[in-house]
Amino acid sequence: MKRIAVLASGQGTNLQAIIDASERNELAGVVVIVISNCAAAHALKRAETHRIKALFIDPSAYSSRESYDRAVVEKLREAEVDLVVLAGYMRLLSAFFVESFPLRIMNIHPSLLPAFPGTDGIQQAYDYGVKVTGCTVHFVDRGLDSGPVIVQEAVPVIQQETVATLEQRIHAAEHRIYPTAIDLFCRDKLRVEGRRCYIVDK
Ligand code: GAR
Repeated sequence: MKRIAVLASGQGTNLQAIIDASERNELAGVVVIVISNCAAAHALKRAETHRIKALFIDPSAYSSRESYDRAVVEKLREAEVDLVVLAGYMRLLSAFFVESFPLRIMNIHPSLLPAFPGTDGIQQAYDYGVKVTGCTVHFVDRGLDSGPVIVQEAVPVIQQETVATLEQRIHAAEHRIYPTAIDLFCRDKLRVEGRRCYIVDK
């Protein structure tokens, strides 16, 4: 069983999907720690409900991005995690953090990358008027939403729909692909060569 850390800043619905998959034995890994940069993050409550160690680390107590990340990395090392999963973690990682876990940090983004990176990926796609959008799980590198793509799911934009209904369908797709990508990692089935992430049979 691989040991997974989840970093989340908000609602934590992706965290919940990951915990649920693990509890249904659909994941060759277990969430051992949840860390948030927001005291009020509902993700922390979800962790506590499932008796998972939940930590709020306060950014205002640190003078720089890197010193904050050093504190987070220390907790991740103490918890002996194999994989760091960003699930709605609304902070850029420092180079120090990324280099501490090479190809062992995943992120989920609510668009088909490389389209619409950054914040508000769903609104950006909606406003652009695309016919298809979706979500992407990727490894984290030093750029913004730019690392090798692991899994994507396309979501069609229905004529006349609101951004709220599109968001619901993208979230539902996220809750399918994130556990899938994490399970592939936990089973050592991901191989990265350059930009390309291959799914291999061991
Ligand atoms: C998700 O839709 C995720 O794709 C997005 O935040 C949401 C978190 O929801 N992440 C980003 O936009 C990162 N750039 P959750 O807290 O309910 O899992």
